[in-house]
Amino acid sequence: MRGARKRFDDHAVLDGVDLALRRGETVALVGPSGCGKTVLLKCMIGLAPLDGGEILFDGASVAAMGDAARLDLRRRVGLMFQYNALFDSMTVGENVAYGLHERLSHPMAPAEVDERVAWALACVGLTGTADLRPEELSGGMRKRVGLARTMALRPEVILYDEPTMGLDPINTHRIGALIDGLHKSYGIASIMVTHDMKLAFDVADRVAMMHDGRVLGEGTPDAMRAHPDVRVRDFLTGTDREGAVADL
Ligand SMILES: Nc1ncnc2c1ncn2[C@@H]1O[C@H](COP(=O)(O)OP(=O)(O)OP(=O)(O)O)[C@@H](O)[C@H]1O
Ligand SMILES: [Mg+2]
Repeated sequence: MRGARKRFDDHAVLDGVDLALRRGETVALVGPSGCGKTVLLKCMIGLAPLDGGEILFDGASVAAMGDAARLDLRRRVGLMFQYNALFDSMTVGENVAYGLHERLSHPMAPAEVDERVAWALACVGLTGTADLRPEELSGGMRKRVGLARTMALRPEVILYDEPTMGLDPINTHRIGALIDGLHKSYGIASIMVTHDMKLAFDVADRVAMMHDGRVLGEGTPDAMRAHPDVRVRDFLTGTDREGAVADL
């Protein structure tokens, strides 16, 4: 992403974002609520057009892609949305198979779909749950079904929007370890938006912090902890110098 700009009315949400994702790398994207992280992910896969700058995937401009190339992009780049709702009217297996019907240019044979669903559920440690309903599962298991749905397309890149939102620390750790293991096994590159700094520092090769529509700082977890900009260090450690708590 080079010089990416996106505005809604007179509000410049992305104001010149430069961000690179290399093969097999995990980048944690952090930043205050409303700073544009979700918008950035949507722009990245062409769900929302940029007002300026460009996004290149494997050297090809996302904006210039035709329908076939865009469909291919949507298969190669998986997405786990912030409010990753499963369809309660469908079984776990049907939820996992959903993207296979939506995103592939050639339909898959039913037996192949079943095989892929079983593989994806095995990836997330949920073998044997295909016939259950999502409502029968815990929050942590539902997140894993969401991950299986993303994995089913065998993506090269996964964009995560708060994959552990609403989970307790133990389940957050488990999802983090699961994601990390899958990335290493299958060479998946990812951008992970999260408010969980422990998760960010545990799984990321690099951490990027957004602020006021730009990437304010990026680097390895160690480099970020020692970042020269105090706003970066304060955000990562949750330090509030405005004394907001004292004012309550
Ligand atoms: N479709 C839209 N129309 C108008 N404004 C929008 C739209 N989508 C996002 N915005 C605005 O863009 C800004 C960034 O929103 P975004 O959802 O990307 O924030 P975020 O960094 O993901 O926040 P959070 O951490 O709370 O999820 C917000 O001010 C939001 O109101
Ligand atoms: Mg968001």
